Amino acid sequence: MGSIVEWATNPWGQSVPIHIGWVMIWVCAFSAIAFAVVHALYLAVFGKPKVFAVNDTPEMVNSIPEKVVRHGAVARAFHWIMATSMFTLLFTAFLPKVGVKFDWVTYHWIAGLVFTASIIFHIIHASFFLDFWAIWPDRTDVRDAFRRMQRFFGKPAPLPARFSKYPLENKLYHSTILITGLTAIFTGLFMMKRVNTHNIFTRNPYLFGDMTWGLMYVMHGLVGVSLIALVFVHVYFGIRPEKREITRTMIQGWMHKEFFLEEHDPARWRPGKDTDTPLTPPSEVPGD
Ligand code: HEM
Ligand code: HEM
Repeated sequence: MGSIVEWATNPWGQSVPIHIGWVMIWVCAFSAIAFAVVHALYLAVFGKPKVFAVNDTPEMVNSIPEKVVRHGAVARAFHWIMATSMFTLLFTAFLPKVGVKFDWVTYHWIAGLVFTASIIFHIIHASFFLDFWAIWPDRTDVRDAFRRMQRFFGKPAPLPARFSKYPLENKLYHSTILITGLTAIFTGLFMMKRVNTHNIFTRNPYLFGDMTWGLMYVMHGLVGVSLIALVFVHVYFGIRPEKREITRTMIQGWMHKEFFLEEHDPARWRPGKDTDTPLTPPSEVPGD
């Protein structure tokens, strides 16, 4: 039986952690697959269309263009560069552990540096050029989560409002990926001191003691396996039929007005205000 952490004895006879038990790869992969299967079956059997409180004025509706820009070109470029480096990190880290042997370390740290650079860029872009508050839960999200839960249990509750730019689930997902992603970067950058980068970075395996190094590898491994599950679930939602319009916005940039008005509240998300998603008149929409 594998365990969560693998231990070894150092030259001084101390027991130190060296990395996670690789059985965790399977635990995370199977949990993610099980979640997707149960979720898909539940929706197929009990799924109902979403209902929201809507009170748009005709002026509000008229002010929305036929194509609402959701992700500008820069945000889309960031997303796909970051995603490519993330898949490279996952495959280079875990394929060798499940039997596909190759010299993975060099590819892994190079992808790690690309991932790090893309996140540094993203933090600056999202903080100063996009709407910084768009991705964090607000009071209305919390109120509506409570209302949805009450309605789910058959209790009377007012209808929830439509979403702002991101539904609560996306905001919570972002917070989780932010914690795991930044932890992988923080520990990964220190771990660069242990590997041979052909003199691009100086090696110093004695920077920390065995115990600290061990815990760092364990932390890197734990967030790494969590990312298997997080990325899998993200892709599962991305390919679900009712989410395709949202996924398409990460490719083409815009969503249809109809979809916008069904799921997004123009009073909570004014595309074009404080974001790089200008409210373009229908005659000027990109991609026509
Ligand atoms: C590993 C870490 C992270 C990943 C993988 C990640 C990924 C993403 C993705 C895919 C989006 C949606 C696309 C977009 O609008 O660009 C997004 C939006 C956003 N992220 Fe991150 N992010 C991370 C860390 C951070 C951090 C540390 C911050 C800020 C301190 C941040 C702030 C934002 C904001 C404000 C948005 C919303 C922008 C808007 O749509 O107006 N992210 N993030
Ligand atoms: C975000 C997704 C990432 C995942 C899933 C991941 C996963 C892993 C795994 C499982 C290991 C093997 C640990 C061990 O053998 O105990 C590892 C090692 C390593 N990772 Fe990552 N990692 C990620 C990000 C990063 C980043 C951002 C960097 C660098 C900036 C990085 C640099 C390294 C280094 C230098 C090693 C050590 C290789 C060695 O000592 O042989 N990783 N990673």
